[in-house]
Amino acid sequence: MENQNNAPERKKRVFSGVQPSGTITLGNYIGAIKNWVALQDQYDCTFAMMDMHSITVRQTPAELRKHTLELLALYIACGIDPEKCTLFIQSHNSAHAELAWVLNCFTYMGELQRMTQFKDKSAKHADNINAGLFTYPVLMAADILLYQADCVPVGKDQMQHIEICRDIAQRFNAIYGNVFTIPEGLMVKSGAKIMSLQEPTKKMSKSDANPKAFISMMDDFSVIAKKIKSAVTDSEAVIEYRPDDDAKAGVNNLLSIMAVMTGSTPEQVAKDFEGQGYGTFKAAVADAVVEGIRPIRAEYDRIIKDKAYLQDIYRSGAESAHRMASRTLKKVYKKVGFVID
Ligand code: TRP
Repeated sequence: MENQNNAPERKKRVFSGVQPSGTITLGNYIGAIKNWVALQDQYDCTFAMMDMHSITVRQTPAELRKHTLELLALYIACGIDPEKCTLFIQSHNSAHAELAWVLNCFTYMGELQRMTQFKDKSAKHADNINAGLFTYPVLMAADILLYQADCVPVGKDQMQHIEICRDIAQRFNAIYGNVFTIPEGLMVKSGAKIMSLQEPTKKMSKSDANPKAFISMMDDFSVIAKKIKSAVTDSEAVIEYRPDDDAKAGVNNLLSIMAVMTGSTPEQVAKDFEGQGYGTFKAAVADAVVEGIRPIRAEYDRIIKDKAYLQDIYRSGAESAHRMASRTLKKVYKKVGFVID
């Protein structure tokens, strides 16, 4: 791409990632990964497996390792092209921990105390409210700022993290000059937040105690269909999209899922199924989800077996991630007064 002066135009940069804590849900796919595919031609994209974030909640080591590779295989199976994007494992690039430390010294306790994810997670893991959980948003800010990302495609629940990242970056820039690009959150409209199938006012989460509440990208197709067919709805028996009505949360969620899987809108899907029963509607949603996942799973099953291929990708990904990140880190170290060189 060239502009009129023949100088190469810098492609805008995108950074995003998913935690490999457990199985990847339909919510992760719809809310995150699916949207990345469309960005890779237009932007300079870096996508990571955020394993350092995962250990803010206790993990089984062998499982974490396994899920990290599964997540990489899934990224590729979903259509993320390792030739076009940088794909790496967060812990392979020590710059993340290093910048996070510096940024910790530019982040206030009060700001972190206000984060809803911290409040939710400390309620859920009351026996392990560790300092990492508290400073989670600072590590996330480091992830983004190291790559001078312009855009960060995330689900709605992560927007508060983007806000605090911007605040930290602006605070740092105000003191030291233009060190960091101020990132924008890039939120998809429909399906940005896929809700629990059992308690549809809550986000779909892989750590839900009830496996019927979430769809794993690795579930058997028959299990996926069963989970959708037993999704909680309401007793009104009317298929209408009313996004602001909590009483309609179950139906709204199924309409959103159907819309994303078929490239439609929830309003249009509601129109298509007007007057039909919930049974018929749920069966159609189940079909759409299974057919959407089927080709991804076929690719995934092929890629996950090829350990050498995956290793090649995450190793060369780590190399280029490190190259990009160390440029920023060096600048930061110099600004704060560390002796460099
Ligand atoms: N917190 C994000 C989530 O749970 C994962 C994440 C960590 C992330 N670092 C990031 C997302 C940087 C985007 C950019 O979904």
